[in-house]
Amino acid sequence: MLPHKKIRILVVDDEPSIRESLSGWLKRSGSEVDTAPDGPTALAKCEATHFDIALIDVKMPEMDGITLLRKLKELDPDTSVLMMTAHGDIQDAVQAIKAGAYDYLLKPFELEELTFTINKMVEMQTLAMENLILKDRLASVTRFENLVGQSPPMLKLYETILDVAKTDATVLITGETGTGKELVARAIHAQSPRCYAPFIAINCGAFTEHLLESELFGHEKGAFTDAKYTKKGRLEMANGGTLFLDEVGDISMKMQIDLLRVLETHEFTRVGGTAVLKSDFRVIAATNQDLQEAIRRKTFRQDLYYRLNVVHIHVPPLRERVEDIPLLAQHFLRRYATEMKKKIDSIHPKALEAMQRYPWPGNVRELENAIERAVVVGKGRQIKLSDLPFLQAAEEGPDYTDLSLEEMERRHIARVLAAKGRNLSHVARVLRINRSTLYEKIKKYGLST
Ligand SMILES: Nc1ncnc2c1ncn2[C@@H]1O[C@H](COP(=O)(O)OP(=O)(O)OP(=O)(O)O)[C@@H](O)[C@H]1O
Ligand SMILES: [Mg+2]
Repeated sequence: MLPHKKIRILVVDDEPSIRESLSGWLKRSGSEVDTAPDGPTALAKCEATHFDIALIDVKMPEMDGITLLRKLKELDPDTSVLMMTAHGDIQDAVQAIKAGAYDYLLKPFELEELTFTINKMVEMQTLAMENLILKDRLASVTRFENLVGQSPPMLKLYETILDVAKTDATVLITGETGTGKELVARAIHAQSPRCYAPFIAINCGAFTEHLLESELFGHEKGAFTDAKYTKKGRLEMANGGTLFLDEVGDISMKMQIDLLRVLETHEFTRVGGTAVLKSDFRVIAATNQDLQEAIRRKTFRQDLYYRLNVVHIHVPPLRERVEDIPLLAQHFLRRYATEMKKKIDSIHPKALEAMQRYPWPGNVRELENAIERAVVVGKGRQIKLSDLPFLQAAEEGPDYTDLSLEEMERRHIARVLAAKGRNLSHVARVLRINRSTLYEKIKKYGLST
């Protein structure tokens, strides 16, 4: 007997008696059957509706079976085709298989043989479908690297990532610190045709102008005192791949001019060199600064801004996607518990609620750090509110009335450091003090960075 699912079969034969006997048998076996006396009629029917299986006679006057098979495969590749050939026409059979038929039956055949083959075809189709579904599921898990989140803004972000990944357009990613800008950049690269070539990141804020220049463009041996060897720049390394310019708002005015030229021509010379080099890279830039404001302050060039901002992706702060907090918390819990070999696998509802009320100025990075610390101190199988002291304090409402100004300052700097991570220039900017003042205070209060 044929399988339970009603399958749709098209029988194509110019001989009316064969059409009738085959379709009668297949209908009695529980399939939905339609027939066609020739190729053109068959194609018209396949265009109108999908058939799981087509049973096609090779010898037909108007359009032969092999031609029909080819046209049908173009029209609907998911239709499995079973050919019927006359004895002795092994040549036809071989041709049919080559043209994409699943199998062939030699006429005359037993009806049981037909049922048996059709069962196999259906089984194959089911397997292929299951495989597709499985692959699709896997892809949706791995597609966005490690980006976690199912909130509407994140779903929209995934869509944008897929769209821009197909293109070579320059992307500017903005968003507060710790929102996941770098992860987004990596996800674009991973989804793009450039994924097999390198993703080269450079933190433009971490270098002096001089060093940034040699990092980007490379340098020739002897170009400056420390240049003992010729060194390839990141632009060269990114050839074929993606260049990620992180903290692009921190680039000096002079470097902005150089960078603009390179982005326009993809040509450059190494520091101390004369040869003009060419590299094919796609640029993704990121910043947590307000570049429009920087343009007004004349610290960022407008022409460079336009060159970078071809596609703009804004990663929303965590407080605007509160529904992702439990997912993210669970994700980090799993990661750190595994890493530290601790058997903690859940978060107390009170702690989760507190997490969702907290504004997370350091965004996902701050949440990640908080979970990491909670896993370190946590006992038992569940993370409790008491494992997240700053959250507990936020919940209880701060009582600062007996703190000295100095203590307030210490706590505030510690909090900003915890939230903004290791980027001290950024921390200094947030606190509106200069870096050396920040260093002094970090030393004075013995804060860890
Ligand atoms: N959606 C997310 N899912 C999982 N992890 C995330 C997500 N967003 C951010 N993270 C994690 O948070 C941390 C900070 O992310 P990332 O470095 O991409 O942020 P950023 O926006 O580049 O921050 P900054 O502006 O400070 O450089 C990383 O450890 C990253 O893995
Ligand atoms: Mg970053």
